[in-house]
Amino acid sequence: MDKPAKPNHEILDVLSRRWSPRAFDSRPVEQDKLLRLFEAARWSASSFNEQPWRFIVGTKDDPEQYEKVLSCLVEFNASWASGAPVVMLGLTKKTFTRGGKFNRVHQHDLGLAMGNLSAQATAEGLFLHQMAGIEPDRVREVFNVPEDFEPQTGCAIGYGGDPQSLPEKMRDDEVAPRTRKAFDEFIFGEAFGKPSPLVQR
Ligand SMILES: Cc1cc2nc3c(=O)[nH]c(=O)nc-3n(C[C@H](O)[C@H](O)[C@H](O)COP(=O)(O)O)c2cc1C
Repeated sequence: MDKPAKPNHEILDVLSRRWSPRAFDSRPVEQDKLLRLFEAARWSASSFNEQPWRFIVGTKDDPEQYEKVLSCLVEFNASWASGAPVVMLGLTKKTFTRGGKFNRVHQHDLGLAMGNLSAQATAEGLFLHQMAGIEPDRVREVFNVPEDFEPQTGCAIGYGGDPQSLPEKMRDDEVAPRTRKAFDEFIFGEAFGKPSPLVQR
Protein backbone atom coordinates (compact mmCIF):
# COMPACT_ATOMS: atom_id res chain seq x y z
CA MET A 1 0.00 0.00 0.00
CA ASP A 2 1.25 3.48 -0.83
CA LYS A 3 1.08 6.13 1.85
CA PRO A 4 3.44 8.84 0.69
CA ALA A 5 4.35 11.85 2.79
CA LYS A 6 2.89 15.15 1.67
CA PRO A 7 5.97 17.35 2.04
CA ASN A 8 5.71 21.14 1.82
CA HIS A 9 9.15 21.16 0.19
CA GLU A 10 10.25 18.54 -2.28
CA ILE A 11 12.29 15.67 -0.78
CA LEU A 12 13.86 12.50 -2.13
CA ASP A 13 11.44 9.88 -3.35
CA VAL A 14 12.82 7.20 -0.99
CA LEU A 15 12.07 9.49 1.94
CA SER A 16 8.54 10.38 0.98
CA ARG A 17 7.56 6.82 0.07
CA ARG A 18 8.86 5.32 3.33
CA TRP A 19 6.28 4.53 5.99
CA SER A 20 5.86 1.89 8.69
CA PRO A 21 3.25 -0.74 7.90
CA ARG A 22 2.10 -3.53 10.21
CA ALA A 23 0.76 -5.69 7.37
CA PHE A 24 3.44 -7.61 5.51
CA ASP A 25 3.32 -10.01 2.59
CA SER A 26 4.52 -13.54 3.31
CA ARG A 27 6.96 -13.35 0.35
CA PRO A 28 10.53 -13.82 1.61
CA VAL A 29 13.10 -11.07 1.21
CA GLU A 30 15.81 -12.07 -1.25
CA GLN A 31 19.20 -12.49 0.46
CA ASP A 32 20.98 -10.12 -1.93
CA LYS A 33 18.50 -7.39 -1.05
CA LEU A 34 18.97 -7.99 2.66
CA LEU A 35 22.72 -7.76 2.20
CA ARG A 36 22.28 -4.40 0.46
CA LEU A 37 20.26 -3.20 3.44
CA PHE A 38 23.08 -4.18 5.81
CA GLU A 39 25.57 -2.55 3.45
CA ALA A 40 23.61 0.72 3.62
CA ALA A 41 23.79 0.57 7.42
CA ARG A 42 27.48 -0.33 7.29
CA TRP A 43 28.43 2.83 5.43
CA SER A 44 26.70 5.18 7.84
CA ALA A 45 28.64 7.93 9.55
CA SER A 46 29.33 7.49 13.26
CA SER A 47 31.16 9.30 16.02
CA PHE A 48 34.90 8.45 15.75
CA ASN A 49 33.85 5.84 13.15
CA GLU A 50 33.03 3.59 16.09
CA GLN A 51 30.13 1.96 14.23
CA PRO A 52 28.45 1.09 17.54
CA TRP A 53 25.45 -0.59 15.88
CA ARG A 54 24.95 -4.36 16.05
CA PHE A 55 22.06 -6.31 14.55
CA ILE A 56 20.61 -9.70 15.43
CA VAL A 57 18.57 -10.96 12.52
CA GLY A 58 16.09 -13.76 11.99
CA THR A 59 14.39 -14.85 8.77
CA LYS A 60 11.57 -17.35 8.32
CA ASP A 61 14.01 -19.58 6.39
CA ASP A 62 15.47 -20.37 9.82
CA PRO A 63 12.34 -20.77 11.97
CA GLU A 64 14.23 -21.38 15.24
CA GLN A 65 16.29 -18.20 14.94
CA TYR A 66 13.23 -16.25 13.74
CA GLU A 67 11.23 -17.34 16.81
CA LYS A 68 14.11 -16.42 19.12
CA VAL A 69 14.15 -12.87 17.75
CA LEU A 70 10.35 -12.62 17.76
CA SER A 71 10.26 -13.73 21.40
CA CYS A 72 12.22 -10.58 22.32
CA LEU A 73 9.42 -8.26 21.17
CA VAL A 74 6.62 -7.11 23.48
CA GLU A 75 3.41 -9.04 22.90
CA PHE A 76 1.65 -6.34 20.86
CA ASN A 77 4.56 -5.94 18.48
CA ALA A 78 5.08 -9.71 18.14
CA SER A 79 1.40 -10.06 17.18
CA TRP A 80 1.81 -8.15 13.91
CA ALA A 81 5.58 -8.47 13.33
CA SER A 82 5.14 -12.26 13.05
CA GLY A 83 3.68 -11.58 9.59
CA ALA A 84 7.00 -10.16 8.38
CA PRO A 85 9.56 -12.53 6.80
CA VAL A 86 12.48 -10.81 8.56
CA VAL A 87 12.76 -9.56 12.14
CA MET A 88 15.77 -7.85 13.59
CA LEU A 89 17.06 -6.39 16.85
CA GLY A 90 19.26 -3.32 17.03
CA LEU A 91 21.90 -3.03 19.77
CA THR A 92 24.62 -0.51 20.54
CA LYS A 93 28.07 -0.61 22.05
CA LYS A 94 28.09 1.97 24.82
CA THR A 95 31.82 2.66 25.00
CA PHE A 96 34.51 3.54 22.47
CA THR A 97 36.67 0.57 21.52
CA ARG A 98 39.70 2.83 21.59
CA GLY A 99 40.11 4.28 25.10
CA GLY A 100 37.02 2.73 26.61
CA LYS A 101 35.24 6.02 27.35
CA PHE A 102 31.45 6.28 27.33
CA ASN A 103 30.08 7.04 23.86
CA ARG A 104 27.40 9.65 24.53
CA VAL A 105 25.95 9.28 21.03
CA HIS A 106 25.78 5.50 20.69
CA GLN A 107 22.02 5.57 20.21
CA HIS A 108 22.24 8.41 17.72
CA ASP A 109 24.54 6.33 15.54
CA LEU A 110 22.23 3.30 15.56
CA GLY A 111 19.41 5.66 14.55
CA LEU A 112 21.45 6.95 11.64
CA ALA A 113 22.33 3.43 10.50
CA MET A 114 18.64 2.52 10.65
CA GLY A 115 17.77 5.66 8.69
CA ASN A 116 20.15 4.64 5.92
CA LEU A 117 18.97 1.04 6.04
CA SER A 118 15.38 2.19 5.72
CA ALA A 119 16.16 4.45 2.73
CA GLN A 120 17.82 1.47 1.01
CA ALA A 121 14.82 -0.70 1.91
CA THR A 122 12.43 1.75 0.27
CA ALA A 123 14.60 1.84 -2.85
CA GLU A 124 14.42 -2.00 -2.93
CA GLY A 125 10.61 -1.96 -2.72
CA LEU A 126 10.72 -3.14 0.90
CA PHE A 127 9.17 -1.79 4.08
CA LEU A 128 10.51 -1.50 7.59
CA HIS A 129 8.69 -1.10 10.87
CA GLN A 130 10.91 -0.18 13.80
CA MET A 131 9.97 -0.88 17.41
CA ALA A 132 10.90 0.50 20.81
CA GLY A 133 8.71 -2.24 22.25
CA ILE A 134 11.22 -4.99 22.90
CA GLU A 135 12.27 -6.87 26.06
CA PRO A 136 15.91 -5.78 26.51
CA ASP A 137 16.59 -8.21 29.38
CA ARG A 138 15.30 -11.08 27.30
CA VAL A 139 17.54 -10.05 24.38
CA ARG A 140 20.49 -10.13 26.77
CA GLU A 141 19.59 -13.58 28.01
CA VAL A 142 18.57 -15.26 24.75
CA PHE A 143 21.51 -13.95 22.73
CA ASN A 144 24.13 -13.76 25.46
CA VAL A 145 24.76 -10.03 24.99
CA PRO A 146 27.93 -8.70 26.66
CA GLU A 147 27.57 -6.07 29.41
CA ASP A 148 28.97 -3.25 27.30
CA PHE A 149 26.19 -3.60 24.71
CA GLU A 150 22.62 -2.41 25.04
CA PRO A 151 19.58 -3.82 23.22
CA GLN A 152 17.72 -0.83 21.79
CA THR A 153 15.08 -1.56 19.18
CA GLY A 154 13.36 -4.15 17.05
CA CYS A 155 12.50 -4.00 13.37
CA ALA A 156 10.28 -5.95 10.98
CA ILE A 157 11.25 -6.04 7.30
CA GLY A 158 9.37 -7.28 4.25
CA TYR A 159 7.17 -6.47 1.30
CA GLY A 160 3.97 -4.56 1.96
CA GLY A 161 0.87 -6.60 2.76
CA ASP A 162 -2.90 -6.25 2.80
CA PRO A 163 -4.26 -3.99 5.59
CA GLN A 164 -7.39 -6.17 5.60
CA SER A 165 -5.29 -8.96 7.14
CA LEU A 166 -4.93 -6.93 10.37
CA PRO A 167 -7.25 -6.77 13.38
CA GLU A 168 -9.66 -3.81 13.25
CA LYS A 169 -7.76 -1.22 15.36
CA MET A 170 -4.48 -1.88 13.56
CA ARG A 171 -6.29 -1.75 10.22
CA ASP A 172 -7.57 1.74 11.06
CA ASP A 173 -4.04 2.90 11.99
CA GLU A 174 -2.69 1.33 8.82
CA VAL A 175 -4.84 3.45 6.55
CA ALA A 176 -4.85 6.63 8.69
CA PRO A 177 -3.21 9.71 7.19
CA ARG A 178 0.39 10.41 8.23
CA THR A 179 0.94 13.62 10.19
CA ARG A 180 3.99 15.66 11.16
CA LYS A 181 4.87 18.69 13.28
CA ALA A 182 5.30 22.00 11.49
CA PHE A 183 8.85 23.44 11.12
CA ASP A 184 8.22 26.15 13.75
CA GLU A 185 7.64 23.46 16.37
CA PHE A 186 11.13 21.98 16.07
CA ILE A 187 13.48 24.33 14.19
CA PHE A 188 14.67 27.01 16.58
CA GLY A 189 16.74 30.14 16.41
CA GLU A 190 17.87 32.49 19.18
CA ALA A 191 16.33 30.46 22.02
CA PHE A 192 15.00 26.99 22.51
CA GLY A 193 11.36 26.96 21.52
CA LYS A 194 11.64 30.15 19.49
CA PRO A 195 11.21 29.34 15.80
CA SER A 196 14.14 30.19 13.56
CA PRO A 197 13.37 33.13 11.24
CA LEU A 198 14.17 30.68 8.42
CA VAL A 199 10.96 28.81 9.05
CA GLN A 200 8.61 31.41 10.51
CA ARG A 201 5.24 31.35 8.81
C1 LIG B 1 12.62 4.07 17.33
C2 LIG B 1 11.19 3.76 16.93
C3 LIG B 1 10.41 3.02 17.80
C4 LIG B 1 9.11 2.63 17.42
N1 LIG B 1 8.39 1.78 18.22
C5 LIG B 1 7.25 1.23 17.75
C6 LIG B 1 6.64 0.15 18.46
O1 LIG B 1 7.13 -0.35 19.49
N2 LIG B 1 5.50 -0.36 17.95
C7 LIG B 1 4.92 0.11 16.79
O2 LIG B 1 3.88 -0.42 16.38
N3 LIG B 1 5.49 1.13 16.09
C8 LIG B 1 6.65 1.68 16.52
N4 LIG B 1 7.30 2.66 15.79
C9 LIG B 1 6.71 3.18 14.54
C10 LIG B 1 6.24 4.63 14.71
O3 LIG B 1 5.03 4.65 15.43
C11 LIG B 1 6.11 5.30 13.33
O4 LIG B 1 7.38 5.37 12.74
C12 LIG B 1 5.51 6.69 13.44
O5 LIG B 1 4.16 6.63 13.83
C13 LIG B 1 5.59 7.46 12.13
O6 LIG B 1 4.95 6.75 11.11
P1 LIG B 1 5.70 6.40 9.73
O7 LIG B 1 6.95 5.63 10.08
O8 LIG B 1 4.69 5.52 9.00
O9 LIG B 1 5.98 7.67 9.04
C14 LIG B 1 8.57 3.08 16.16
C15 LIG B 1 9.38 3.86 15.31
C16 LIG B 1 10.68 4.19 15.68
C17 LIG B 1 11.53 4.98 14.73
